[in-house]
Amino acid sequence: MQLTLEEHTTKISHMLKVIILLALVTFAVCERETPPSRPLWPDGFRTQAIITAFDENNQPHAHRSLFYYAYTNKTASGRWQGNERHDHFGYCYGWALNESSCTILITQDVYIIARNLCCIAMPGNFGVPRDWLKGATWLGIEQIHGRTVDHWYSWEHEYWSEVDEPRNGVRYSGPNFKTPRQFTDYDAWEIAPQDPHLFDLPKNTDCSQPCP
Ligand SMILES: *[C@@H]1O[C@H](CO)[C@@H](O)[C@H](O)[C@H]1NC(C)=O
Ligand SMILES: *[C@@H]1O[C@H](CO)[C@@H](O)[C@H](O)[C@H]1NC(C)=O
Repeated sequence: MQLTLEEHTTKISHMLKVIILLALVTFAVCERETPPSRPLWPDGFRTQAIITAFDENNQPHAHRSLFYYAYTNKTASGRWQGNERHDHFGYCYGWALNESSCTILITQDVYIIARNLCCIAMPGNFGVPRDWLKGATWLGIEQIHGRTVDHWYSWEHEYWSEVDEPRNGVRYSGPNFKTPRQFTDYDAWEIAPQDPHLFDLPKNTDCSQPCP
């Protein structure tokens, strides 16, 4: 069969497209066989979340929460340190039993704050380090709520971050306070510096006693 020059060109251009496509697919597959860089948490962010916390009797407590995180290296040691605030609605990990909400502050110590309650649940505990996924193992790519995520494992903790935006956490799973396991499904992270007063203890209140 005789091909005209034009048909030749069309054929070649079609072959080129196929070759380029194959090369791209191969590249994409290869790229995903090596772990992406491990997520580093932003210096400041806030997000809503739906948490399902399983208590010691394995009973689930689904509730809504607001998280605030602020990190700084303007510390005496020059090392990065974090402040965390979690406002929980409808469940307080065994504290403030009859209250509709509580705040957990993690600022050197862990404080539980609710109506008529301010106490230390855990002394000497800073926020989770920004680089807590430093040594994490990459378990591959998954789908959560229609989002494409990297799945990470670090000790007893699991974490899922958006493939295209590793600074967006999508889900966390692990032990938390008295809770042997909790699942946290994050809303979109709003990355911005946080007001330092968010991490203040209530005024004129003695919060120095251990929690009951
Ligand atoms: C804090 O971190 C920033 C950014 O990583 C760096 O440029 C700065 O030198 C650090 N400051 C201190 C006191 O370590
Ligand atoms: C919570 O309320 C229940 C009754 O609704 C009561 O029996 C219980 O003592 C209360 N617990 C606390 C810690 O106040």
